[in-house]
Amino acid sequence: MQTIGIALLGVGTVGSAVARTLQEKGDELARQTGMQLVVRWGMARHPERVIAAGLPEQAATTSLDPILEDPNVVVIVEALGGEEPAATYMKRALQAGKHVVTANKEALSKHFAELVAVAREQQRALLFEASVGAGIPLMASLRQLLSVNRIERIRGIVNGTTNFILTLMAEEGVPYHDALREAQRLGYAEPDPTADVEGLDAAYKLSILASLAAGQHLHPDRIDRRGITSVTPDQILDARTRGGAVKLIAEALRKDEEWELRVHPIFVPGSDLLAHVRLNLNAIELTCDRVGTVVLYGPGAGPAPTAAALLADVIDAVRFGPALLPEVEATS
Ligand code: HSE
Repeated sequence: MQTIGIALLGVGTVGSAVARTLQEKGDELARQTGMQLVVRWGMARHPERVIAAGLPEQAATTSLDPILEDPNVVVIVEALGGEEPAATYMKRALQAGKHVVTANKEALSKHFAELVAVAREQQRALLFEASVGAGIPLMASLRQLLSVNRIERIRGIVNGTTNFILTLMAEEGVPYHDALREAQRLGYAEPDPTADVEGLDAAYKLSILASLAAGQHLHPDRIDRRGITSVTPDQILDARTRGGAVKLIAEALRKDEEWELRVHPIFVPGSDLLAHVRLNLNAIELTCDRVGTVVLYGPGAGPAPTAAALLADVIDAVRFGPALLPEVEATS
């Protein structure tokens, strides 16, 4: 049995869900994988968070340094969220010879090419299954598809919070602010939910998916973006009476060698599968030149599915190291 030391950067909703999952399932995972995962550090501004997550007091740190200096830490799980200091910390972790696993769509989408280049240089893993579609095995499927296919189009619902709000408004007439509060209570929303409702979170996720399909970093700033705040309750209810739904759709379309990228709320007719994706579920259609269209559907937000995806990545990081690194070239 191998013992694998891990460190959690960030012990908020996601980080503490990782700690909890390991407390509940660590032994079962060890039997399945031959790896006993041990949380050696929890980095948080407030040490109480670390203790509240069921970790020992001596695991608490406010600084990255002891983690990087600990030779027993093999994998760093980045669950800080936000661009900085997360991006810099991930880079430093890779440079210190640690594998990095992240759920952070903002930092990854803004620094994708650079982080992949550092990981390659250092021959370390950089895995990010949890960053898009939480529990949906999206990156694993994309890797498989991309080894033979060219992806022509990506289209889907990639933000659980806005989909949850739109569903409650349409089906139960719940006012916008009440629906948002409920999404926050359930742990779906970003710490600042503006990122959800203004479509930023969806843009980060689309940027990651499209960059993988393009083999080139497509920065989220390039995305034409509109959130759900401009949608009225009447429009949402009217869509329902017409048999469809208003959905926040993220779309990337290959046009020769250019990509058109947009995130916007639109009317989706009932004949379209995406109209029936409810609550915090996500669905992503990948249109491939050989396989045709594949749809991946499942829980796209929430602490439990996100933690499960992060832990699966920890196991893959140890098993495969840099072998799963994607091709993401920097754009000139
Ligand atoms: N706030 C995000 C969402 C969390 O609602 O989709 C999962 O990335």
